[in-house]
Amino acid sequence: MERDATVVRVYPPGYGHTPISADYRPWLRDAEFLAAWRRVRDNTLLDQARLHNLWDLVEQCSRRCTGAVLEVGAWRGGSSALMALRLRAAGDQRRVYVADTFAGVVKAGEQDSYYRGGEHADTSVDRVARFLDDLSLHQCVVLPGMFPDETARDITDSSFALCHIDVDVYQSARDVFFWVWPMLQPGGVVVFDDYGFLGCDGVTRLVDELRQRDDLVIAANVNGQALAIKFR
Ligand SMILES: C[S@@+](CC[C@H](N)C(=O)[O-])C[C@H]1O[C@@H](n2cnc3c(N)ncnc32)[C@H](O)[C@@H]1O
Repeated sequence: MERDATVVRVYPPGYGHTPISADYRPWLRDAEFLAAWRRVRDNTLLDQARLHNLWDLVEQCSRRCTGAVLEVGAWRGGSSALMALRLRAAGDQRRVYVADTFAGVVKAGEQDSYYRGGEHADTSVDRVARFLDDLSLHQCVVLPGMFPDETARDITDSSFALCHIDVDVYQSARDVFFWVWPMLQPGGVVVFDDYGFLGCDGVTRLVDELRQRDDLVIAANVNGQALAIKFR
């Protein structure tokens, strides 16, 4: 049996991080996912666990909910493309919005211990447009600029089934969440990347604040994602 190489990490005291071990990797026997993953892996920072979760959730949400899919924080487009590949495989032509500044992280502030702004600028709108075009993912709509401030006005859908927020910092994640939430269908999901990651404490804090709301359930996974599941 293959095992991951041992990774030795040093965690800050009192931070609530220790290594965990979970052997179940459902994507290893999901041939369709693995084929899609091979097509996007060079254009994403996400590991297989988080990508497989998006692959699974976009299918579940699209079966239950009408509305578009939105990703804010696309970087080189890999995670957006994976969701669009999943929808296309199911014959589902709904729009997938692919939003990024293409100039790196914005709105870093006091809540964020690591990010300062400008990180992940090593991409471009042309590169992502070409990547999506090469995969013939014509249902993807690229939105270059700060979301929602500069690009939400270009969205033509008024309901959403799933939103993936992968923006690394508190204020950006908060602004995206409060923009999309009123238009998310009951049964729809907001997936936060970065939950619990060292250096992404702003996003962790935001998700933990949302636990007070009475219209959602937060499911915080130990893989670095948290879900806000809307039930009404
Ligand atoms: C970690 S990367 C995203 C990774 C990507 N999902 C992938 O598959 O690898 C974070 C991205 O969020 C973008 N970003 C942060 N805040 C944003 C905002 N308010 N509007 C648009 N893009 C934003 C940054 O430009 C950066 O490319």
